[in-house]
Amino acid sequence: MAFPNQRKRINRTSTGIRNLTAETSLHPHDFIAPLFIEGGTNIKSEIPSMPGYYRYSLDTVIHEVKELVDVGIQSVLLFVKESDDKKDNTGAYAAQPNGLMQQSIRIIKAQFPELLVMTDVALDPYSIYGHDGIVDIEKGEIINAVTVEALVKMALSHIEAGADWVAPSDMMDGRIGAIRDAFNVKGYAHKGILAYSAKYASALYGPFRDALDSAPGFGDKKTYQMDPRNRKEGIDEAYLDEAEGADMLMVKPGSFYLDVVRDLSDSSNLPVAVYQVSGEYAMIKAATEKGWLNEQDIMMESLISFKRAGAKVILTYFAKEASKRLINNYPNS
Ligand code: PBG
Repeated sequence: MAFPNQRKRINRTSTGIRNLTAETSLHPHDFIAPLFIEGGTNIKSEIPSMPGYYRYSLDTVIHEVKELVDVGIQSVLLFVKESDDKKDNTGAYAAQPNGLMQQSIRIIKAQFPELLVMTDVALDPYSIYGHDGIVDIEKGEIINAVTVEALVKMALSHIEAGADWVAPSDMMDGRIGAIRDAFNVKGYAHKGILAYSAKYASALYGPFRDALDSAPGFGDKKTYQMDPRNRKEGIDEAYLDEAEGADMLMVKPGSFYLDVVRDLSDSSNLPVAVYQVSGEYAMIKAATEKGWLNEQDIMMESLISFKRAGAKVILTYFAKEASKRLINNYPNS
């Protein structure tokens, strides 16, 4: 046989045939845009380790949300940076009806009722120790049961303020079930839970902790976040979260954990989300600022890799940039 009957290049001949046969695609609806909020007014403060990404005050965040909505983004995930006087070892302030998070939810929902507002649920912005839970000081341990109680109160306060979904990022055992029970009992059965199911103890969260001033004051997060050496454990976490009542499962970080994204999407019928975290963003920004990589291209390639691995939903600091590119007809442009 002089020539092969199957020529794989035929389906690569033109933009038209490549688009027609592409197995995956991106759309602004796939993205959840994280937003960092702090107290005060008129603030738009660039995070040094996340060039081009900002913390906003309540007045300026509205402009940013408008820009996100204008490029087709339909969901945001809120994080707040709290002042030191709001931090203790109980997480009490996390559930204050008039806390910064609760005010942010109300203001954003009032202006954008259709926008899906999701909130981070973990105690680290409220912890004097920078941990996601309540610490037993003597033992230097994070106590599961009391932390879950505090998280339930925190989650309820977000929902009462008008949030549509909560996203528990703390990795305590049993917290999804406890939050689901509380929602059912309090009349919030229709509210969603995006479970950080396979959240790894990663070195890629550094820039985020700079942004929120939430680095652990002692030790690390390895007694609650997952060991990067483990894969099957991620599937176990996902099964548990699904059984406890999660509506969407997340893998975090993204790029180094695409095998886990594939595992979860094969083993659950719930939508799988992936979080391209601050360190991934920082790496891409650093290399592209140096001119070593092309920013637009590497951004789109990184995002499509999540879709190819099986994610439906992508949390990314590139949400706005990528959406701009997509509504301008990428990859035809
Ligand atoms: C807090 C939380 C973290 C991130 C999301 N929620 C940091 C951490 O667990 O230390 C990381 C996000 C990012 O790096 O972009 N529980």
